[in-house]
Amino acid sequence: MRSPLFQQILLCVLVFPVLATSIDDDDFIFHGFRDATTNLSLNSGAEIMQGGLLKLTNNSMRQKGHAFFRLPLRFHANTTISSFSTTFVFAMVPTYPKLGGHGIAFTVSPSKDLPWSLPIQYFGLFNVTDVGSPSNHLFAVELDTIQNTEFGDIDDNHVGVDVNDLRSVDASTVGYYSSSDGFKNLSLVSGEPMQCWIEFDGARKRLNVTLAPLRAPKPRVPLLSSHVDLSDVVLDSAYVGFSSSTGRTTSDHYILGWSFRMNGEAREIDLSKLPALPRRGPKEKPKALTIGLPVILSFVVVAAITGVGFAAHRKVKFAEVFEDWELEYGMHRFAYKELYSATRGFQDRELLGVGGFGRVYKGMLRASNAAIAVKRVPHDSRQDVREFIAETASIGQLRHRHIVRLLGYCRREGELLLVYDYMPNGSLDKLLFDESKTMTLGWKQRLRIIKDVASGLLYLHEECGQVVLHRDIKPSNILLDGEMRARLGDFGLARLYDHGTEPQTTTHVIGTFGYLAPELTKTRKANTATDVFAFGVFVLEVVCGRRPIAPIDESEMGLLLVEWVLLHWMRGTVVETVDANLHGDYAAEEVELVLKLGLLCSHPKADERPKMRQVMRLLDGEMPLPDVSVNRMNASARCKGYDELMVSPDNGPTQYSIDTESLLSGSCC
Ligand SMILES: *[C@@H]1O[C@H](CO)[C@@H](O)[C@H](O)[C@H]1NC(C)=O
Ligand SMILES: *[C@@H]1O[C@H](CO)[C@@H](O)[C@H](O)[C@H]1NC(C)=O
Ligand SMILES: *[C@@H]1O[C@H](CO)[C@@H](O)[C@H](O)[C@H]1NC(C)=O
Ligand SMILES: *[C@@H]1O[C@H](CO)[C@@H](O)[C@H](O)[C@H]1NC(C)=O
Ligand SMILES: *[C@@H]1O[C@H](CO)[C@@H](O)[C@H](O)[C@H]1NC(C)=O
Ligand SMILES: *[C@@H]1O[C@H](CO)[C@@H](O)[C@H](O)[C@H]1NC(C)=O
Repeated sequence: MRSPLFQQILLCVLVFPVLATSIDDDDFIFHGFRDATTNLSLNSGAEIMQGGLLKLTNNSMRQKGHAFFRLPLRFHANTTISSFSTTFVFAMVPTYPKLGGHGIAFTVSPSKDLPWSLPIQYFGLFNVTDVGSPSNHLFAVELDTIQNTEFGDIDDNHVGVDVNDLRSVDASTVGYYSSSDGFKNLSLVSGEPMQCWIEFDGARKRLNVTLAPLRAPKPRVPLLSSHVDLSDVVLDSAYVGFSSSTGRTTSDHYILGWSFRMNGEAREIDLSKLPALPRRGPKEKPKALTIGLPVILSFVVVAAITGVGFAAHRKVKFAEVFEDWELEYGMHRFAYKELYSATRGFQDRELLGVGGFGRVYKGMLRASNAAIAVKRVPHDSRQDVREFIAETASIGQLRHRHIVRLLGYCRREGELLLVYDYMPNGSLDKLLFDESKTMTLGWKQRLRIIKDVASGLLYLHEECGQVVLHRDIKPSNILLDGEMRARLGDFGLARLYDHGTEPQTTTHVIGTFGYLAPELTKTRKANTATDVFAFGVFVLEVVCGRRPIAPIDESEMGLLLVEWVLLHWMRGTVVETVDANLHGDYAAEEVELVLKLGLLCSHPKADERPKMRQVMRLLDGEMPLPDVSVNRMNASARCKGYDELMVSPDNGPTQYSIDTESLLSGSCC
């Protein structure tokens, strides 16, 4: 029997005297791309980084990037289309945790430049006029992190088979079949590297796509196995490579290694030879703070043997930082040892969550048998802890039914521990957005939560004898007590991150992207009106059950939640924005009032926003809603205002800053 290779050579010699590629080019492998600059053709935003990582797009908005193998390959050396197999290791590192945009597509294309293609949902592959046209002769497997209704995307974490079109002929949620545990979900935007295999059998017209986390063996069952006829799609001479794009939400898209083979199985990628991803996320905490049980156990053994050094070690283990000025503020100070034992040594089992400012553990105070939540807030020495403690101490005195009580604190090197009342029902964020939907909030509960938060905020702004800003209102900072009543948590913490930026970049404002009032980009001064803005976004979130910058992507650009609600309002369909999980079980006039209130609070002009006192009265029905005509809401100006929010990651774990220097204009509505 003749080998396929032999056949090819024969065909090359006999039938195609001039070949675009040599046979060798039909089988290649890259472990990193350091030496591949001559073999790859890069354009738009794609680049090879030091260390050999291929970066298809950076985290700027609306970028595209292409990287194709330099030479075209021959796909019709036989009467049937050739089979091929490829595997690559990729990673998508979103600018905001869990919020990527848009994705990577393995592509077979007649052009390696795709000059007319658009970014965003067009993936750098098509444009508005050519998408769907058979004359594209383009085949792609998309790894898509945005649900785009225009192209019928199934979800915001899927793989799709695209033939001349972004409306996939077949698609599946990303995951893999593990031989032991059945189907397991994978999240494309986890930031972790993953491996993808794409195998096409030309004769059987079958395409298999398989994914797995890095280092897991290749799953035996593919994620997708689709019937696709590419004979008339892929031209005889075509390029293979990757296309990628970003939109309003962005990710860094990386390829770490790539192997391809025509008419055969792609060679295995040697994972040990791949370049490393850039370091990201908050700085590692010093080892001493995260002593695990095994370490403690082995230490106990060693200590028992040596019998010395134990006391010394204890000292280090429970070491605290104390400065005289702390006495001035009179805030209750806990001993680290007490918190350590209350949380059973900060065991993972006691971890309640990882919030914007650090990890939160559940604990039980031995002395009082009171349940507490301990937040460990890492900070670096540049941050003014004293000022923070001063403010926190004064807030610590505040007592209000809808504010989480701060019981005290403790200080260690590079770390602040804050002790709060334990809230048994966790954060609102979990209830609103939990995918498992073990429990959905009804309308009455939602309305009560909105009122609770409004009342807590009113207290901070106007009733506690001083003006206290929250600075970071969002569902993950709203906690629910045993009676499902809402309380504001984490106030003032944003302030800790307000300092410590480099002197030349003091143009940074802190808060959470999506909740930042537009004027913060100019004035950089938080005030009650910026809190009201965030409250408005929060209100819309609670009613619509959507995140403020969750990609809704109805139009080409993708809309922010506020814009989306506004759009519906202008069309007279605002009720359609209400969370579908409510199944229509609500009073329409209440919902409408609350939505309008949300829009009014998140008005782009600060002086158009109501004060918290008015908000409270509106919610209680003591005051009619002021004029909220579409005109007054200044819809087009509003969209422009949002578009100016260009963001860049900052030192805080999920805190972002606005860089006023990069306030690029850009069209929106
Ligand atoms: C890339 O090109 C270099 C020189 O141009 C060559 O030595 C190398 O083998 C090529 N690599 C692949 C995978 O084709
Ligand atoms: C990202 O890439 C684009 C296109 O190459 C470039 O214009 C932009 O400045 C880059 N942005 C960053 C943050 O590197
Ligand atoms: C094309 O390939 C198939 C299977 O590899 C083979 O059976 C057939 O004879 C080939 N046709 C030609 C014209 O070489
Ligand atoms: C779309 O792309 C095609 C090529 O595929 C090009 O001819 C056409 O001009 C482009 N249209 C626009 C609006 O850019
Ligand atoms: C996996 O994802 C799908 C779709 O998002 C979801 O329905 C399913 O519950 C998830 N399964 C697990 C185990 O998380
Ligand atoms: C695709 O997967 C199916 C089912 O596992 C398998 O029978 C078939 O051989 C695979 N085809 C290719 C081209 O890998």
